[in-house]
Amino acid sequence: MSLAAALAVVRRRLLGFVQFRALSEVTCREIRSSPGDDDRATYPPHSEEASLYVHWPYCLRRCSYCNFNKYISRAVNHNAMDACLQRELETLLRVSQVSRINSVFFGGGTPSLAPPSTIAAVLETVAKHAALQGDAEVTLEVNPTPIGMAKLADFLHAGVNRFSIGVQALNDEDLRVLGRDHNSQHALHTVDEARQLCPGRVSVDVIFGRPGQTLACWEKELEELLLVCDDHVSLYQLTLERGTQLFKQVQAGQLSMPGDDVIAGMYESARRILQERGFLQYEVSNFARKGAVSSHNLGYWRAGQYLGVGPGAHGRFVPQGEGRLCREARTQTLEPDVWMREVQRWGHGTRRRVELSHTELLEEVLVMGLRMTEGISHQHWRQFSPRAELQQVLGESAEVLELQERACSS
Ligand SMILES: C[S@@+](CC[C@H](N)C(=O)[O-])C[C@H]1O[C@@H](n2cnc3c(N)ncnc32)[C@H](O)[C@@H]1O
Ligand code: SF4
Repeated sequence: MSLAAALAVVRRRLLGFVQFRALSEVTCREIRSSPGDDDRATYPPHSEEASLYVHWPYCLRRCSYCNFNKYISRAVNHNAMDACLQRELETLLRVSQVSRINSVFFGGGTPSLAPPSTIAAVLETVAKHAALQGDAEVTLEVNPTPIGMAKLADFLHAGVNRFSIGVQALNDEDLRVLGRDHNSQHALHTVDEARQLCPGRVSVDVIFGRPGQTLACWEKELEELLLVCDDHVSLYQLTLERGTQLFKQVQAGQLSMPGDDVIAGMYESARRILQERGFLQYEVSNFARKGAVSSHNLGYWRAGQYLGVGPGAHGRFVPQGEGRLCREARTQTLEPDVWMREVQRWGHGTRRRVELSHTELLEEVLVMGLRMTEGISHQHWRQFSPRAELQQVLGESAEVLELQERACSS
């Protein structure tokens, strides 16, 4: 079942339940005042905790497959970026009334192009306005170029304690096709250096299902990677994104993608190989050994609050400082220069804010929760839906019953 179809099922079931129970308007107010509940209680209970995502929007060049929010700029105004990231962070901390940040993730774009002083300044701002536990996970995405590698120690001193390295492939021809600005030797050196600096806290990103890739090549490459990598691996199936150079090349017949069955085989064999090497799968794309799971990413999948700072960053939190009770989905302005002007003018570059209905929030809890191996426990579900048990919501669904039957008979 596709994600869209699964979502449609979930939405139908949730809406059906809500209507069935004559809770036609499940507003936050109504959820708050369910009989026997504390009048001030909301679901999920108001939290002063969140994680923080910081988006660095610049890259050295455009990879052929990528449609993330990134810009190739020769002249980044670092002072302005620095000041704006800090100012927007202060604003969002005030608006959310979040007083404790559990984890920080610097993503992009290529945040390893940012000056380490910018990373330090953001972390100092967090520490100035909220509690950031000493052992909180602070991850930086690193492109394994010589420039990125040379700065790893400085990033560590700036407060980073986990590196996520965009290896993507250990095959130089594939790296060229992907338009990467590194080769396999750069990737291996960067992983080695990062492991020396941050043992046990280095993750690698790898893409499979690449043009022309065969199952045998992929298995060999993964085995090679597992000889040198640390305790965390993220595997991504290459998505052909409309508008990218790779999409055009495939459309024009210059490159061809492996078939769906081959790609499915690559995923299955990767799961097996990783398991043989002691990696436990804890999410669709994520594997860890020795307990090296990413607490930041688990926060997303467990539907925790997060603040998103920087151009195009996404956030999910209750703007308690504005007297709101419901969680909002917020997106910051995409284009960095426009975002900076907005932050300088208003203190933030929030372009879009959508109040999530209770049904939408529950959909997110389900869809994100189902990504994880741990799934959704009743206890977890009740934090978001104290009145409607998971079984009541989904138990009568023909689709769920069918899946249960299939699981029992297999
Ligand atoms: C957007 S990148 C940012 C990090 C860094 N700039 C890099 O490229 O390594 C984050 C991760 O998303 C994954 N990614 C980006 N575009 C993708 C695509 N079209 N298909 C599959 N994975 C993709 C890559 O594995 C990458 O490591
Ligand atoms: S994949 Fe990473 S380095 Fe490449 S363009 Fe996208 S964000 Fe930049």
